[in-house]
Amino acid sequence: MFTTISSPSVPALPTDLFAAINDLKKDLNAVILAHYYQDPDIQDIADYIGDSLGLSRQAAQTDADVIVFAGVHFMAETAKILNPTKKVLLPDLDAGCSLADSCPPAEFAAFKAAHPDHLVVSYINCTAEIKAMSDIICTSSNAVSIVQQIPADQPIIFAPDQNLGRYVMAETGRDLLLWQGSCMVHENFSEKKIVQLQMEHPEAEVIAHPECEPSLLRHARYIGSTTALLKYAQRSEARAFIVATEPGILHQMQKDAPDKQFIPAPPMGSCACNECPHMRLNTLEKLYLAMKNQNPEITMAEETRVAALKPIQRMLEMSA
Ligand code: 13P
Ligand code: SF4
Repeated sequence: MFTTISSPSVPALPTDLFAAINDLKKDLNAVILAHYYQDPDIQDIADYIGDSLGLSRQAAQTDADVIVFAGVHFMAETAKILNPTKKVLLPDLDAGCSLADSCPPAEFAAFKAAHPDHLVVSYINCTAEIKAMSDIICTSSNAVSIVQQIPADQPIIFAPDQNLGRYVMAETGRDLLLWQGSCMVHENFSEKKIVQLQMEHPEAEVIAHPECEPSLLRHARYIGSTTALLKYAQRSEARAFIVATEPGILHQMQKDAPDKQFIPAPPMGSCACNECPHMRLNTLEKLYLAMKNQNPEITMAEETRVAALKPIQRMLEMSA
């Protein structure tokens, strides 16, 4: 006879995680919001999958009691800023973002203080502290339009993504003072290998996220947020695409257009380093445990939340 030794720190997981998560969803009156870079099984159990703008809108308007955020910390934090009476759970509290990390609040405060006449437009991929120091937030789907709505003689600081900033400069003809941050995932595509892939698949269109470097974006037939890339792939007459963003999005692309071919753009090395290591910290198991334990929960100082809310609301008004 065998003796089962059970450790209190490792709770047993149900055999059918999908069913268990759906049960917890009902019990908690919870909604699961997921970003396209999450593992396919997380996308499949989510109530809503979207880009940062879509996810923010969903978080603001939900009447669920609990928001389970399958994404990274700044996204869950934005949900809490927008809807503070809800409990916001993030399956893994370590799911950060290299871009958000590239803009430390103290250094950014000094940068801002050195340019007091500048309006601060910050990409949503930043911490609540940076949002609190910003005038308007933007996402990859509205950055161009938001900058276009600002009077032409108004100097602007754009933070933290220099690549999105350069893309906005090219699209608007505006001069922006750029914070030199970037995303470790989108900076890692190999231009050389993409050109090689294009020669092997001359029928394929390159589509890219604006967080990619300008040298890569110049090969793109279409540039947009994750949702915009997804919609473009559906409506384009092309039958094949080389996709320069985190490959998690291929799951929805393939589901929406099963007869088309989606080829992930290759990284510099031979690693899987175009998978966002932060996004991929979330797993179905951690999602279940977060719901069961109602933890890890996103919390923040009310003063920071109120200050960070203003520029997000401004964004939502400007992109209505
Ligand atoms: P989207 O808003 O386009 O989904 O971008 C989020 C992100 O983190 C891209 O790296
Ligand atoms: Fe941040 Fe880049 Fe990951 Fe997006 S892909 S969450 S910008 S590290």
